[in-house]
Amino acid sequence: MSNAHDEKPHVASPSLWPIGFAIGIACSLVGLIVSFPVLVVGAVITLVFGVLWVRDLLTARAEAAAVEGAPTERAAAEEPEVPTYDRSVFLSTATIGVGAAIGAVVTLPVLGFAVLPAFQSHDVPEIDLGPLSNFPEGTYVIANYFENPKEGDVSRRTAYVRNNGPTSSGVPSFTILFSRCVHLGCPVQANGPFEGKPISYNAKDQLEVTLQPVLAASFGCPCHGGQYDGEGNRTAGPPVRSMDRFQFAIRNGNLFLQKIFSVGTVEGTGASAQIQRYTRTYPGVHVDGLEQWLYPIPVPGT
Ligand code: FES
Repeated sequence: MSNAHDEKPHVASPSLWPIGFAIGIACSLVGLIVSFPVLVVGAVITLVFGVLWVRDLLTARAEAAAVEGAPTERAAAEEPEVPTYDRSVFLSTATIGVGAAIGAVVTLPVLGFAVLPAFQSHDVPEIDLGPLSNFPEGTYVIANYFENPKEGDVSRRTAYVRNNGPTSSGVPSFTILFSRCVHLGCPVQANGPFEGKPISYNAKDQLEVTLQPVLAASFGCPCHGGQYDGEGNRTAGPPVRSMDRFQFAIRNGNLFLQKIFSVGTVEGTGASAQIQRYTRTYPGVHVDGLEQWLYPIPVPGT
C-alpha cells in the first residue's frame, strides 16, 4: 500500500540573500548620515541581494508549481487530486511583505528628516539697511534686523557690515558677516567698543533696523570661546570654518542684504579679499578639506 503523503514535501532551500539585503539596508541608513559613497554602496548591495532573493523565491515557486502540476503516477492512481497550498512560499511572501512594511515605516521618516531639508529653500528675503552713508568706510557696523516681520522677535538677526570702499575697478565693496557662530550657532560678538550712538532705519514692509558702529578688529563667541579675525576667518576654538557672509546689492543708494553663503577661508582683506564660497550650510559642517566628505548632503543653515 502506498501513501502520497509519504512524498517528501517541497521546502525552500535556505538562502543568504535576505541577510545581504538587510546588510544593504543598514549600510544605506548609515550612509545617509555619514557619507554619500557609503549610501551608494548600501543601495547597490540592497539592490543586488534584493534581486537575487526575489529570483530565488520565484524559482522556488515555479518548481513547486511544476511539482504540483505533475503528480506522481502512484498518487494519481490512488488518490483524488486535492488543492494544495505551498506553505513555504506563503511564509516567504508574508515575511517579505511584513519586512517591507516595517522597513518603510522605519526608513521613510529617517529619509524625510535626513534628505528633504537639503532640497528646501531657505532663502532670506532682502533686507534694506538704508543709505550707504550709514556705513563709514573701514568701520564695522552692527546691523540688527528682523528676517521675517510676521515672526517678530524670533526672527531678529545680526550682521556685521564693513564698508571697504571702492575696489580697484571702482565698484563699492562691503564685507558683511553673519553673526551666527559656525561651531554650534551661538551669536558671535564684536571684540571692541561701540562708537557713537545707534541709528534707526525704517523701510517699507520691514521692521526697524538698528545700526551701531563698533571698533572691532575681531569677533568672539561667548559659548565655547571660538575666535574669528576681522575677515571672519577662524583663529581659535572649535568653529570648523570661517564666518558665513551675505551677498549684497546696492539700489537707489541703499544697501540690501541678500543670500547668506558659507565660507572656507578668506585670503587678503577688504575689497581685495579672495573668498572661498560655498552653498550656505549648517553650523558645525565642514565645507572644505578632507572632512567635507563627511557631509555629502549639506543641510542648509537656518
Ligand atoms: S557656538 Fe561658538 S564656539 Fe561654540
